[in-house]
Amino acid sequence: MGGVNPYIKEAEVRVPTRKYKITFMPMNVTVEVDPARFPYEHNGLPGSLLDIALGNGVEIDHACGGVCACSTCHCVIKQGYDSTNEPLDAELDQLDNAPGLKATSRLACQAVPDGTCDVIVEVPEWNRNLVQEGH
Ligand code: FES
Repeated sequence: MGGVNPYIKEAEVRVPTRKYKITFMPMNVTVEVDPARFPYEHNGLPGSLLDIALGNGVEIDHACGGVCACSTCHCVIKQGYDSTNEPLDAELDQLDNAPGLKATSRLACQAVPDGTCDVIVEVPEWNRNLVQEGH
């Protein structure tokens, strides 16, 4: 399931123009992101961390289908936070409900890296129950 939430402002994203890499921790899965292949899974914004994760076999919980209406896709960006779009108020409101909030926490369905650097993302333990380790 996926789509757009008509009740929130549209996110302003800078779409990457070249390939870059995202590493998902702690499963230590690194994927090469090719913007020519967006969207991967139609969950979350095209090119979002969730879209890329699901499109590459890394499962992150996403109860609302990636429309910024829950906090189950909470993740922490360990490297490359500044290369992602600004979080909207709707995302920040949802993050308030996420356990273990950090300064670089984002909703995976709303965070879209611009590809100017490689990114490292930590998937919190409570979001990992479906992760396919050893991908
Ligand atoms: S999947 Fe619900 S907010 Fe991201």
